[in-house]
Amino acid sequence: MKRFAFFAVLLSLVLLVVNGCYYDVEEELYPIQECNTDNVTYSGIVAPIIQNNCLQCHSAAASLGNVVLEGYDNLKGFADSGRLLGAVKHQAGYSPMPQSAPQLGDCLIARIEQWIDDGAPNN
Ligand code: HEC
Repeated sequence: MKRFAFFAVLLSLVLLVVNGCYYDVEEELYPIQECNTDNVTYSGIVAPIIQNNCLQCHSAAASLGNVVLEGYDNLKGFADSGRLLGAVKHQAGYSPMPQSAPQLGDCLIARIEQWIDDGAPNN
């Protein structure tokens, strides 16, 4: 009986310690990604996204599919026609872009969308 009591106490202590050390902090497991869509400019935000993800195929020199996204005027045309957003959001009726690569992250897409909603200004 004494031995049983000893093990019971030991077991509860072990459980206590194990439980005490186990904690889930949601923010640590899944960091909340802030997506800042304030002040999205062509030069500071949108052009670099296009540069990094699209121009290897859509520069003036490459122009795959006759799509040139290099330079403001060219990109503005695709922004206004809805083809830019349709392609990056993988909307029905548009070729999903970037081709042969994973879809852009949600925040990059949100920033492009914000810029288009703002009227796709040359800023
Ligand atoms: C590996 C090459 C490649 C990359 C990278 C790429 N594209 Fe394309 N893109 C193509 C080709 C080829 C076509 C034409 C054939 C087609 O529509 O699938 C095309 C077509 C398009 C079109 C016309 C689609 C339509 O349905 O009207 C748009 C808009 C476009 N791309 C935007 C982008 C954007 C924005 C990016 C970067 C986020 C990007 N592409 C990255 C190869 C690429």
